Amino acid sequence: MYTLNLTEFSQAEFLANYWQKKPVVIRQGFLNFQDPICADEIAGLAGEEQVESRLVYKKGEQWQAEFGPFDDFVRLGDKDWSLIVQALDHWSEDAAKMIEPFRFIPHWRLDDLMVSFATPGGGVGPHIDLYDVFICQGSGRRRWKVGDLGEHREFAAHEALLHVDPFEPMIDVELLPGDILYIPPGFPHEGVTIENSLSFSVGFRTNSTSHLFSGLADHLIDSEQGLELISDAGRTASEHTGSIDSSDYVLIKNQLQHFLDDDEKFRQFAGCFLTQAKHELDLLSAEIPFSFEDVNFAMQENSLHKLGGLRAFYFTESVGQGLCYIDGVEVNFAPDIAPVVQMLCDNVELSPEQLAPWQDNAEFLAFLTEHINTGYWYFSQT
Ligand code: SIN
Ligand code: CO
Repeated sequence: MYTLNLTEFSQAEFLANYWQKKPVVIRQGFLNFQDPICADEIAGLAGEEQVESRLVYKKGEQWQAEFGPFDDFVRLGDKDWSLIVQALDHWSEDAAKMIEPFRFIPHWRLDDLMVSFATPGGGVGPHIDLYDVFICQGSGRRRWKVGDLGEHREFAAHEALLHVDPFEPMIDVELLPGDILYIPPGFPHEGVTIENSLSFSVGFRTNSTSHLFSGLADHLIDSEQGLELISDAGRTASEHTGSIDSSDYVLIKNQLQHFLDDDEKFRQFAGCFLTQAKHELDLLSAEIPFSFEDVNFAMQENSLHKLGGLRAFYFTESVGQGLCYIDGVEVNFAPDIAPVVQMLCDNVELSPEQLAPWQDNAEFLAFLTEHINTGYWYFSQT
């Protein structure tokens, strides 16, 4: 279990003064920090086809980036390289626990947990991220420099590595195990490892307007919505054939605006879009599907876990009507089980005691059985 140890400011002060505003070092944010996963296990994950991994190193003065899977690290020697594994929360239950202390930021803002193993001198170079990130230092030491917002020229140091010009650091620190560095989007930064080191990055994302619109277009096409055409019956004669007059402009703009103003339809899109997994899920469905009875029995003995990386959300406005969103799909359920569906979305683990009131509820058993058989939730011994 990881708990955030804030001594200089409270969670509320962090949100008011630093979140999205300025970087800060949280010394010993994790007391007595223990790595949830070791370097050998990370190397093992980087050997898997489904796991997204990257190696970054320098050949002479030239930056290099390679994408996994990898089975040989010996060729790299013992310094100046780093290995990065994305979406560690999808593959390691222990590592996923590192996200829990940051739950005061809602899950829809979460991107993933990334880990980097770096040898002395290793790092990915000076760069700017579009994400908020809490870089949590695991074993080893690493020096971090963070510059201020501003006009920083970005360039491709390699086709897969966007760097920035050297910057004046406003933070220049050596992180020790348990220290946390929070960096909001836009601040240039660079971490260079001093001794073999593990860094765990809990990253938070938002979407650009273009990404949202492109997601909306995909959603409309997939769900065969938005097929209505502009209707301009009753038009009066146009004086200037080359002009798009103000009433036509409004007609065209309203075609999109009407969809955005329809909260039911927009929520459906946003719920599906925001629950889509960006990285592969480690779905393990049971060989023999669970029956309602199996689930009812297991619920009394075992705790229920949400699959690492699964995104399951609801809107406060519509959950009471029996709507939630799981892994990119809108799910309908009986409105009377809304409280327990909310519990499933809000928690990564539920005990038999928490589920006891729902044990004999046929609607809930049907809901849970379906999602257990898909591999989205699973039981484990308490
Ligand atoms: C790293 O851990 O090597 C890179 C993390 C970052 O700068 O975003
Ligand atoms: Co970064």
